[in-house]
Amino acid sequence: MSDRDTEVRQVGQLPEIVVRGGQPLRGEIQVEASKNATLPVMAAALLTAEPVTLPGIPWLHDVDTLRRVLVSIGVGAERDGRSLTIEARDIDPFAAPEHLVRRMRASFLIAGPLLARFGVARVPLPGGCAIGSRPIDLHLKGLQALGADVESGNGYIEFRAPRLHGANIYLDFPSVGATENLLMAASLADGWTVIENAAQEPEVVDLANFINAIGGEVRGAGTPELRVRGQSHMHGTTYQVIPDRIEAGTYLIAGAATGGDVTVGPIVSEHLKPLLAKLREAGAVLEDAGDYVRVTSDGSLQAIDVKTMPYPGFPTDLQAPLMAALIRAKGTSVMTETVFENRYMQVPELRRMGADIKIEGRTALVTGTSRLTGASLRASDLRAAAALVIAALSAEGASDISDAYHLDRGYYRLEEKLASVGAEIERCRCSEEP
Ligand code: UD1
Repeated sequence: MSDRDTEVRQVGQLPEIVVRGGQPLRGEIQVEASKNATLPVMAAALLTAEPVTLPGIPWLHDVDTLRRVLVSIGVGAERDGRSLTIEARDIDPFAAPEHLVRRMRASFLIAGPLLARFGVARVPLPGGCAIGSRPIDLHLKGLQALGADVESGNGYIEFRAPRLHGANIYLDFPSVGATENLLMAASLADGWTVIENAAQEPEVVDLANFINAIGGEVRGAGTPELRVRGQSHMHGTTYQVIPDRIEAGTYLIAGAATGGDVTVGPIVSEHLKPLLAKLREAGAVLEDAGDYVRVTSDGSLQAIDVKTMPYPGFPTDLQAPLMAALIRAKGTSVMTETVFENRYMQVPELRRMGADIKIEGRTALVTGTSRLTGASLRASDLRAAAALVIAALSAEGASDISDAYHLDRGYYRLEEKLASVGAEIERCRCSEEP
């Protein structure tokens, strides 16, 4: 059970979302800066002692968790409205606290930059959403190739390397986090590093752009081969991270699922290509203007086949939200999850609403049902929680979703945004006990 779970249970309350379904969503939704781009850029601010300012930050729980991790190792991390200024001057590279790092896997992204800049780092083993075992072997192997001694024990990993050196690294799988950690470490290593089979996600490209903006030299971002020339030091900057393609995608799916007319922006629609293709195939009408996308649908979607893949494949983070739309589509959709091994946590909850879903290994067979009814649901992780909201919005009657705090890890003011386009949704702190 996470710390947050414990906190919430102790006061006998479960933050809960109540949704009354059946309203088509209509209107515009503003998209925030990407959570998954913000987190690595915050970690990369450790590469320099000079201030880094990130405007337009979405104040999500995950962003605040990493901010607290940075503060706990001595970093100045000042909030000013929506802007965050990070100044990593006097750092204790041994001080990252277990209770914060265990909350979120992305905290492990501090390992690469800390090691590269200070020659040592002690980082607790990470936690994160309950979506599979999520090992960190690729991070460790890559850092070892760059010259790090790695020792683990008592829930911590300790890294030592007075000076990292460039290396040729082949990743067995294009892990987003491992690519990011290695990119940061290699940026302050001696000489050139080549990372093959690197992740090509837009968030990795954004991190590479940030590193280049603070004086680094990363080439090939967005391709499977990254070339990094290590620098002796880096400098501060002000940097705006890219829009959140997963947040945008979630609202587009909600628009299509409810038979609505929803415009999301600002976005880079290129980043959403795999989703837009699938929504079109399912029968939704899309208008793609490059920096915003409008989806319209009469609510009668067709079954489609979807396989999650590393970018530019269909994103695993939108698998659960899309499934929530396909449970009412005509026919049987075949969904295959290839990125994480345990990412169908939404399925038992969707079945409670009347969904017909069979799981066979990594494949889910989703047969559309004409009638979906509201139910009492429980969110298991961030994207599963988003899926339950979408299903509840398109179901008949009311649903309540407990453990809705998962949403706050990745969706900024989700209820407000959905209510602004006509959803009947509200958050209450309903007491678990009388
Ligand atoms: C990031 C995203 C997450 C998204 C995922 C895949 C952030 C903060 N999170 O997570 O939202 O779902 O990319 O797009 O950006 N793996 C290993 N060994 C490793 C590292 C990963 O086996 O050392 C495996 C994982 O167990 C998983 C797969 O690789 O099965 C993908 O993981 P990875 O790409 O690393 O995802 P994250 O960076 O954790």
